[in-house]
Amino acid sequence: MSAIRKVYIKSYGCQMNVYDSRRMADTLAREGFAETQLPEDADLVILNTCHIREKAAEKVYSELGRMRVLKTKAAADGRRLMIAVAGCVAQAEGEEIVRRAPMVDVVVGSQSYHRLPDLITRAAHGPVVETEFPIEDKFDHLADPAPSVIRARGVTAFVTVQEGCDKFCTFCVVPYTRGAEVSRPAAKIIAEVARLTDAGVREITLIGQNVNAYHGQGPDGRTWTLGTLLSRVSEIPGVERLRYTTSHPRDVDDSLIAAHRDIAALMPQLHLPVQSGSDRILAAMNRRHTGADYLRVIERLRSVRPDMAFTSDFIVGFPGESEQDFCDTLRIVDDVRYAAAFSFKYSARPGTPAADRIDQVAEPDKIERLARLQERIESHRQSFNAQCRGKILPVLFERHGRLPGQLVGRSPYLQPVQTMAPRSLIGEIVDVEITAVGSNSLFGSLDPGLNRTTRPAVQRA
Ligand code: 5AD
Ligand code: SF4
Repeated sequence: MSAIRKVYIKSYGCQMNVYDSRRMADTLAREGFAETQLPEDADLVILNTCHIREKAAEKVYSELGRMRVLKTKAAADGRRLMIAVAGCVAQAEGEEIVRRAPMVDVVVGSQSYHRLPDLITRAAHGPVVETEFPIEDKFDHLADPAPSVIRARGVTAFVTVQEGCDKFCTFCVVPYTRGAEVSRPAAKIIAEVARLTDAGVREITLIGQNVNAYHGQGPDGRTWTLGTLLSRVSEIPGVERLRYTTSHPRDVDDSLIAAHRDIAALMPQLHLPVQSGSDRILAAMNRRHTGADYLRVIERLRSVRPDMAFTSDFIVGFPGESEQDFCDTLRIVDDVRYAAAFSFKYSARPGTPAADRIDQVAEPDKIERLARLQERIESHRQSFNAQCRGKILPVLFERHGRLPGQLVGRSPYLQPVQTMAPRSLIGEIVDVEITAVGSNSLFGSLDPGLNRTTRPAVQRA
C-alpha cells in the first residue's frame, strides 16, 4: 500500500454538503489522505448524500452499485477500497444502508464527520454505523484547510454558520436528518472567514438550512442575529462580497433589512423560497406565512435595495393542491418577477406529516403543473437577464472559461458572466459591459477605459 492514501468524495444536494465534504477532506488530510477526482484511484470513497426528495436518495443506491464494481476490481488488484456513506441518507437510513448495500464500510451522519478517522480505523474489522447527534461540537474537531488548499478551491467560499431546522414544514425531512437549529458562535465564524480571506478568498457565502434564523453567541456575550453577523463579517479585510443562503421568509427581521440597506459588500440577490403561492397550501405546508406576508418581505427588501434580485424554490402537487392553488403559485411568480427559481414535484418523504395524506396529487397533474411553472419562471429569468444587456456590472472573476483567453465570473445577481480577460484578473472585481445574453450566461467585454473596482459598485435601479 502506498504511504499516501487517496480519498474521492462525491457530494449530492445542497451547498451544506459541499461545505461538509470540504471539511471532511481537510480532516482526512491530517490523517495522510490526499483528495483525488478519480474514484478508481481511491482507497476511500465517500458519498455525501441528500435525502430531500426520493430521486436524490435513489441516486445514492445506484452510485453504490457502481462503487461495488470498483471495490471488487480493487480487491482483485490486491487493494482494499473502503466505502463510506455520509450525509442525510446516512442519517435517515443508518443500518438499513449496510443491509441494502453490504459492501459499505462506514455510515456516518452529518453531525459526526469529525469522527471519520476513527470510524475508518474501526471499519477494518467490519461495517461501522455512527448516526448519533454527539454532544461535542464537530466544528471544534474538524481540521482547517491549509492556505494552499483554500486557494486551489477558488476565490469564493461557503462558511456554515447555522445547522438544522425547527420549522417542520410538513413535506421536509431536514428537521429529522439535520436535527434542531444550532448556531455557531460568531467568533468562530469570524476567525474562519479571516483565514479564508487571508488566503485569497474574495466572496463569502454564509450558509445554513435556515440561515436567517441565526442566533449565535456574539463575542460581546449577546445573541447576534444574522444582520449583526453580516455587518461584522463585512468588516473583515478582504471580504469584497457577501451572500447568505438559505433563508425563511418568517425570519427576515429588521436587522436583516438594515443589513441590505447598509452593507455595500452584501450582494443584492436573495434566495427566499416561497414553495407555493396559495395560502391554503402554505398553511397545510406549515410555512407559517401567507402569500401577502411573503410579498411584504420582498417589498421591504426592494425598498432598501431597489435592484434586489430574488430566487426561490417551489413545490407543485403538494397533497390537496387544486388547479386554483396552482394558479396562485403562478401569480406569485409574476408578482415577484424572479431572476431564477428551482421547482420540484412534491415527493412524499417517509416520516413527514404530508406523506400520510390521502389526497395525494396524481403524477400526470404534477408533471403538467411543473412544466407550466417552469415555463413561467423561465420567461421571467429571460426578462431579468435581457434587461442586463448594455449595463456595466461589476464581475468577480472566478475561473477560466471554455474558450482560450476567456474568464468566467459572477455578476452581483449571481449570473455567470463570460468575458475575454487576462488570467491575472481571477479574484478581481472588474466592471464589465454586458454585450449579449445567452441561455445560461451573460457575455461581456472589458472596457479598457473602465476602472477596476475594489468595492462592488453595483448600479442601483
Ligand atoms: N418534495 C419536493 N420538494 C421538496 N423540497 C423539500 N422537500 C421536498 C419534498 N418532499 C424542496 C423545497 C426546498 C428545496 C430544498 O427542496 O422546495 O426548499
Ligand atoms: Fe425544510 Fe421548511 Fe426547514 Fe426549509 S424551513 S429546511 S423547507 S423544514
